[in-house]
Amino acid sequence: MTGAFTLAIMKNLRLRFSLLCLLMALIAFGPLGFSADALPTVTDGPKSRDGIGKYFMGREIAHVMGHQAAAWLERPERDKEEEPTKLIQTLELKPTDVVADIGCGTGFHCFRMAPSVKSVLGVDIQQEMLDLMMGKAKQLNIINVKPILGTISDPKLPAGGVDLVLMVDVYHEFDHPVEMLSAILASLSPTGRVALVEFRGEDPNVPIKPLHKMTEYQARREFESIGFKWDRTVSTLPWQHLIFFKR
Ligand SMILES: C[S@@+](CC[C@H](N)C(=O)[O-])C[C@H]1O[C@@H](n2cnc3c(N)ncnc32)[C@H](O)[C@@H]1O
Repeated sequence: MTGAFTLAIMKNLRLRFSLLCLLMALIAFGPLGFSADALPTVTDGPKSRDGIGKYFMGREIAHVMGHQAAAWLERPERDKEEEPTKLIQTLELKPTDVVADIGCGTGFHCFRMAPSVKSVLGVDIQQEMLDLMMGKAKQLNIINVKPILGTISDPKLPAGGVDLVLMVDVYHEFDHPVEMLSAILASLSPTGRVALVEFRGEDPNVPIKPLHKMTEYQARREFESIGFKWDRTVSTLPWQHLIFFKR
């Protein structure tokens, strides 16, 4: 009688142990066999006027700004609204740095960084933007700005070869954010940094369309989900966050 009772208890314990193991496996690998730290994905959702109907971690991705609007990037009031000189100073560039300006457009920031660094890789997905940038490089006689025609999922940067990736007013347009951020992470040198500049989504007084702004909270969530480490946020620019990430 005692033997049968002990056997029943042991079976019960074994069953509980098996259930516990199953539960832990489900937590670790998910019900479909995916790892719990699998990368987030872009999903479909309602399309708004300025968006593409695709969402990343709850945020609708914005349309890419066409090259037809390139003059807006060179508007005279930009100096007052964005204080690019202060932005460049805050980057603490070194003469040995290889810098990538992803979504460089007309090269507005490339030419401001070029005198302080070894080279600037200006990456864009629109050849027309790169042509405008290189026309200006010729005019200014700047030889260390190099154009790279990227794709929507690959900035075509040298692996481990970039000391600073700058992204100004572009990240919210990436329709393949996971692929882009993974490639950017792989492009960074061991001490490489990312400087993300986005109009402040938390501030209703910043007169920019909502999908072209980002909150610091959302930016950190997205970058950290791919493996970046938040370093610091600088809040001295008039309208924009400047958020530094490292590997
Ligand atoms: C709003 S403009 C900003 C240009 C520049 N950063 C500036 O502040 O003057 C955005 C630029 O990013 C480019 N772009 C969008 N998605 C991109 C991607 N996945 N890779 C590289 N460039 C991209 C667009 O073609 C456009 O030229």
